[in-house]
Amino acid sequence: MKYISVIGAGTMGNGIAHVFAQNGYLVNLIDISSTSLEKGMATISKNLDRMIAKKKITNADKTNTLANITTYTTITEGVKNADLVIEAATENSALKLKIFKELDEVCQASTILATNTSSISITQIASVTERQNKVIGMHFMNPVPIMSLVEIIRGYNTSDTVTEQIMELSKKLGKTPTEVNDYPGFVANRILMPMINEAIETLYNGVAGVKEIDTVMKLGMAHPMGPLQLADFIGLDVCLSILNVMHDGFKNLKYAPCPLLVNMVMAKKLGVKSGEGFYDYSESRKAEKVAQRFLK
Ligand SMILES: NC(=O)c1ccc[n+]([C@@H]2O[C@H](COP(=O)([O-])OP(=O)(O)OC[C@H]3O[C@@H](n4cnc5c(N)ncnc54)[C@H](O)[C@@H]3O)[C@@H](O)[C@H]2O)c1
Repeated sequence: MKYISVIGAGTMGNGIAHVFAQNGYLVNLIDISSTSLEKGMATISKNLDRMIAKKKITNADKTNTLANITTYTTITEGVKNADLVIEAATENSALKLKIFKELDEVCQASTILATNTSSISITQIASVTERQNKVIGMHFMNPVPIMSLVEIIRGYNTSDTVTEQIMELSKKLGKTPTEVNDYPGFVANRILMPMINEAIETLYNGVAGVKEIDTVMKLGMAHPMGPLQLADFIGLDVCLSILNVMHDGFKNLKYAPCPLLVNMVMAKKLGVKSGEGFYDYSESRKAEKVAQRFLK
């Protein structure tokens, strides 16, 4: 595999493009929004600078990494030569089904189609294609250049060969792939999201404030970051949509999103990306400081 196309240049897409490009793959980064592409490339450049400052890479590595990435605003152009496409567009099942239908039509027959979805069924996504054996979940964690786990999700019809190829590829990126089956939330979010939701519920019920809840989990459970701050980093809209997928998929009230989370998403308080969530990130330096503390 040499040619990788990444769809979506947001929080996850730019991180995925960064990691592949740094490992010598030729990456086409695609987004419908040229502003997202510009912001995504600026984030990659900033993250590479941070790695130079920590002496993890050289200036030449930065130049080579950036040279390995080309940006596109249309899928057809951006996936022409792809050996692998990784979709990291907004977490919305109608959107993902539309994208995969298009990918199936415009990609070479041999192209493997992966999705970075946090919770949407891989089997459902694969069902709109004529290559269900070549559709797989490749769930990177945020921030992608730092976190070593990739949750590899086998859809109902994903072949053994494709699973092995994607496991091997993840190892070549220096990541640790872990294979799981395709049920709502997979493993990572099935366990993480109820904890985040319960933290929001605890706040909603007035048991404690934001800082107190996060302090209990950081200092008491040795979590590197409290659940409310983690929710801000993931994006509250992403958290809400994952909980909705699990609630719908299992028909179990324990996954029902807290009304406070629903309200905050409607009010566009989405966390770091919107400048405010459980914490205030309105001054860019504040967000930067929080990110740096976490990335140390
Ligand atoms: N944020 C996280 O911590 C996290 C972690 C793991 C997985 N994920 C998953 O990764 C995916 C992306 O999440 P994100 O947080 O990066 O979202 P984001 O909102 O930061 O970025 C999504 C990007 O997709 C683009 N987009 C929307 N429709 C498109 C289309 N038709 N074609 C091309 N680009 C399109 C948007 O312009 C935007 O730039 C989601 O499926 C999410 O569940 C997110």
